[in-house]
Amino acid sequence: MKAAYIESYGSASKVKIGEQPKPKAARGCVLIKMKAASVNPIDWKTVKGDLKPLVKPPFPILLGNDGAGIIEELGKGVTGLGVGDEVYFRCRKADTGTYAEYFSIPVDLVAKKPSNMSFEEAASIPLVGLTVLQALKEKGGMKPDSKVLIHAGAGGVGTFAIQFAKACGAFVAATASAKRIDLLNDLGADVIIDYHTQKIEDELSDFDIVLDTLGDDVQEASYQVLKPGGVLVSIQGIPDVETMKYYGAGLMVRLVGALSNRKKQKQAAKHGVRYDYLFMKENGAQLAEIAELIEVGKIKAVIDSTYPLDQVQQAFERSMTGRSQGKIIISID
Ligand SMILES: NC(=O)c1ccc[n+]([C@@H]2O[C@H](COP(=O)([O-])OP(=O)(O)OC[C@H]3O[C@@H](n4cnc5c(N)ncnc54)[C@H](OP(=O)(O)O)[C@@H]3O)[C@@H](O)[C@H]2O)c1
Repeated sequence: MKAAYIESYGSASKVKIGEQPKPKAARGCVLIKMKAASVNPIDWKTVKGDLKPLVKPPFPILLGNDGAGIIEELGKGVTGLGVGDEVYFRCRKADTGTYAEYFSIPVDLVAKKPSNMSFEEAASIPLVGLTVLQALKEKGGMKPDSKVLIHAGAGGVGTFAIQFAKACGAFVAATASAKRIDLLNDLGADVIIDYHTQKIEDELSDFDIVLDTLGDDVQEASYQVLKPGGVLVSIQGIPDVETMKYYGAGLMVRLVGALSNRKKQKQAAKHGVRYDYLFMKENGAQLAEIAELIEVGKIKAVIDSTYPLDQVQQAFERSMTGRSQGKIIISID
C-alpha cells in the first residue's frame, strides 16, 4: 500500500511516499480503508526526532496520528462496529501511520464518524478534540459557569476548544491576531484578545481555566488572569513525570521532566493557582461523545488547507509556519 514514512530523523524533506506492507486486522482490531487524515504538530515533531525521549519506534516510522475512513475487515473478537462503518480515530503514539491507504487499530480507539461531516472534516477532529476534552474537562474540571481562556484560538486545538467550551456553556476568551477576529466570533468566542496589541493581564480577570497551547512565554501572564484556585493546563513543553513513566522514559529524562514541572508548579503556586500538564491519550468512547456534539451542530470543522497523500512534505511545511487557521488535511482517496 502507499504510505508516508521516514527512514531517519531530520527536516520535512525526509518524508518519503512509497510502498509499505498492508497491515492486517489483528485480534481486537479493525482494518480501515483510509479516506483522510490530519496534520498535527506532533507529526513533524516526530520527523525532527523531538519525541525520541518518550516514544522511539523502529524505522521506517509511518507517519500520521489521526484520521477517518471505512472499516474493511474485522479482527477476531471485534464487536460493536462492522464492515462498511464510517469511522474516525486517534491512534496510539507508538503505532502511527494514518497517512496511508490502510490502517489497523484496536476497536476501542475508534468511533463512528459524525454523520454530518465529510471524511476530510471528520479527520480534522480526533487528536485536537480529545486534547481539548481531556484538558478542559478532565484536567480543568470545566463546568457550565466556568470562565476559560484559550491561547492560539485560531489554531487546530484553539478552533475546536472555543467551540467545545461554548458547547459546554462556558464563558470563553481567546487570543489571536486581528485577521482571525471574524473566525473567532463565528466560533462563538465571547472575548477576543489581539495578542499583537493587547495584554491578557490588562483585559481579563477571575478566570477558572487557561488552556496553554504556546508554552513558557504566556504562562506568567496567564497566572495573573486566573482566580485563586484556578488552573493553567499546558499542552506545550516538557511532559510531566506521570506521562514519562507511562511511555517508559529513562531515568535522566524523567528527572528533567520532574525538575521542569516542579519549577512551573512553584511559579503557579506563587499566584495561588495550579499548573498541570496534559499529554493527550487516544480514546474511542470520548470520540463518540464528541461526535454527538458535532451531530447536534455545536461543533464544526475549521480547515486551513487540504493536500494529497503525495504532498505530506508540503503539508508539514505549511504547519511548521505556525500560521495555519484550523486544521491541515491529507486527502487519501
Ligand atoms: N500535549 C498534547 O497532548 C498536545 C496535543 C495537541 C497539540 N499539542 C501542541 O499544542 C500546540 C498547538 O497545536 P495546534 O495544532 O493548535 O497548532 P497550530 O494549528 O499550528 O497553531 C497555529 C495557530 O497558532 C496561532 N498562534 C501562534 N502564535 C500565537 C500567539 N503567540 N498567540 C496567539 N496565537 C498564536 C496562529 O495564529 P496567528 O497566525 O494569527 O498568529 C495559528 O492560527 C502545538 O505545539 C502542539 O504540538 C500538544
